[in-house]
Amino acid sequence: MKIVVLVGLPGSGKSTYLERMGVAGLSSDAIRKLLADDETDQSIHERVFQTVRYLLRQRLEIGRPVTYVDATHLTPRERAPYIRLGARYGCPVEAVFFDVPLEVCRERNRSRDRVVPEEALKRMALKLKPPTLEEGFSGITVIAYT
Ligand code: UTP
Ligand code: MG
Repeated sequence: MKIVVLVGLPGSGKSTYLERMGVAGLSSDAIRKLLADDETDQSIHERVFQTVRYLLRQRLEIGRPVTYVDATHLTPRERAPYIRLGARYGCPVEAVFFDVPLEVCRERNRSRDRVVPEEALKRMALKLKPPTLEEGFSGITVIAYT
């Protein structure tokens, strides 16, 4: 079994990457919609991520070979719960980092349905810490913007 944690700003292409591979990840936005009928509701943050972790644990319990987690995961602190779950279930945790310039994310963000406020995007860019092996990831794939 394996856990793959996606890391990247809004608009960096995380959901598009999964879509292109034809796999369904555990998406914090999809769970926001399931819980609050609104995929932009930021007022239930903790509940959303409890649900992500609950679903991930259920998948590990039934032995699903790979689980992708689709959320921004900008800091080691936000990523740590997956490293702990991996250790508990004895499975490696990998990261896929979408290394896309803020300018590009901003452009893509502007031209889609669900627009993240400009200020929020800027704040998130300042918060972003790329994933490292020291955090406990078994491997890191960087998707560079070309
Ligand atoms: P995504 O919706 O995949 O971004 O792409 P994301 O990382 O999952 O963003 P959040 O965190 O959920 O907010 C955003 C936009 O960028 C386009 C997609 O079509 C979409 O409109 N895109 C994505 C590209 O134009 N090229 C790419 O390589 C990837
Ligand atoms: Mg997305």
